Amino acid sequence: MKITCIGAGYVGGPTMAMIANRCPDITVKVVDMNQARIDAWNDPDLSQLPVFEPGLDEVVSEARGRNLFFSTEVNEAIQEADVIFISVNTPTKTYGAGKGQAADLKWVEKCARQIAEVADGEKIIVEKSTVPIRTAAMIKSVLNGVGKGEKIRVLSNPEFLAEGTAVSDLSNPDRVLIGGDDEDAIETLAAVYAHWVPREKILKTNLWSSELSKLTANAFLAQRVSSINSISALCEETGADISEIARAIGTDSRIGPKFLKASVGFGGSCFQKDILNLSYLCDYFGLPQVAQYWRSVIELNDWQKRRFAEKIIRSLFNTVAEKKIAIFGFAFKKDTNDTRESAAIYVCRDLLIEHAHLAIYDPQVSIEQIISDLEYVGIDNARELVKSGVITTVEDPLEAADSAHAIAVLTEWDEFRSLDYDKMFEVMKKPASIFDGRDIIDVTATRRIGFDVYAIGKVENEEAGWEVR
Ligand code: UDX
Ligand code: UDX
Repeated sequence: MKITCIGAGYVGGPTMAMIANRCPDITVKVVDMNQARIDAWNDPDLSQLPVFEPGLDEVVSEARGRNLFFSTEVNEAIQEADVIFISVNTPTKTYGAGKGQAADLKWVEKCARQIAEVADGEKIIVEKSTVPIRTAAMIKSVLNGVGKGEKIRVLSNPEFLAEGTAVSDLSNPDRVLIGGDDEDAIETLAAVYAHWVPREKILKTNLWSSELSKLTANAFLAQRVSSINSISALCEETGADISEIARAIGTDSRIGPKFLKASVGFGGSCFQKDILNLSYLCDYFGLPQVAQYWRSVIELNDWQKRRFAEKIIRSLFNTVAEKKIAIFGFAFKKDTNDTRESAAIYVCRDLLIEHAHLAIYDPQVSIEQIISDLEYVGIDNARELVKSGVITTVEDPLEAADSAHAIAVLTEWDEFRSLDYDKMFEVMKKPASIFDGRDIIDVTATRRIGFDVYAIGKVENEEAGWEVR
């Protein structure tokens, strides 16, 4: 059997690497129009893979060159494949109807058209990208338009991996979901996963349930984060502690302990995009109340990010102008180099608007990425700010803290737990503050050192002049 995947991104790359790794009898080719990305996947130096994921280098190195190949020859790869995954990006539309809400399906449609044009014989197309419900109908229409609808089947097989844990999520998934209306095609794909996933974890549904399950799963997960974040604000006002509440409610087996970590706000390429898309679909189908219900999850998240930046500004005597602030972490979560929709982008933007100076430390994110993210959210002169030293990136958290008025922890990298905060305190301007957006700082210990500490969902200390009710 031969599998081709169009799109060598965060989803296509790791997923195909795992399939190739666990199915030595299947030849897997990952194609992408981006030559630099393909070169990086082929780089003999495994630290240069375009996606940073713990354990991914080993999975790739075992299979690459054996039955896993990366290339830009899309047509050839389509022709030779039995199964073609579409794993291109489906970002929120930035233009025209549905701007800022609907998913942009132009790349998915382009793939469908390319397959319709060059494919011969029987094939299965698998939607791996997250797509709005009924996208498979569009793909089928494109195939029918050139008389290939009979021979080419369409399945939905959404990916539920989370970044940072992609390898373990792929090797031991909670479930694999396959939606379709052709039993043989479903079985062909199920047999691929059955190489390593127990059969009872392979769920089969109709196409539309499968497509909508992905949007629904992400909406539910994001809703949990917004729910706990909403309560975090109430904790700060009342003296309750959000991690104690998370523990107390998480032991209820109906609620469960996962995804109850209060934070500076969720990020990532999926949650916001998928909820916007879900809301857009609800409006489209005449369900404005449902649309608004889900939109409020994003509104709460936007408020949480803004609230954090405002807290920093207010606490530093209402001005951060020309004050150095150490930013600990820029990725949207730990163990990834991905910054898409990271809360850090928005917090940094709000601080830069107030003329703060930022020293950013993130073990995986490059300065080029930071510049492009800040430009995207309206800091048009981000590059000049880097040149003039208003924004710097540093290799060492201590360097970021040197002469800074405050530390803002925006990503929960493990290393931030064990830094030498005594030393940090020594080199910082006084009063020295820590703003913990990830609940990883030992509040009692750092307060004992002398820091003013603000942590999401925890009451502030009276000595710092903050009001306790
Ligand atoms: C994935 C899913 O596909 C998306 O629907 C989901 O919601 C988020 O995760 P991801 O892998 O994260 O997207 O996207 P990205 O890292 O941007 O990778 C997509 C790749 O597809 C890029 O490398 C891009 O160059 C490639 N691409 C895009 C093509 O090869 N051809 C195209 O026509 C469009
Ligand atoms: C998510 C889904 O989990 C995954 O199933 C889907 O395939 C893609 O979208 P991902 O965005 O990679 O995965 O990471 P996830 O672990 O879900 O975290 C998303 C954001 O929520 C991060 O910014 C994270 O820091 C935040 N988060 C998560 C919290 O703030 N609190 C939590 O308790 C959990």
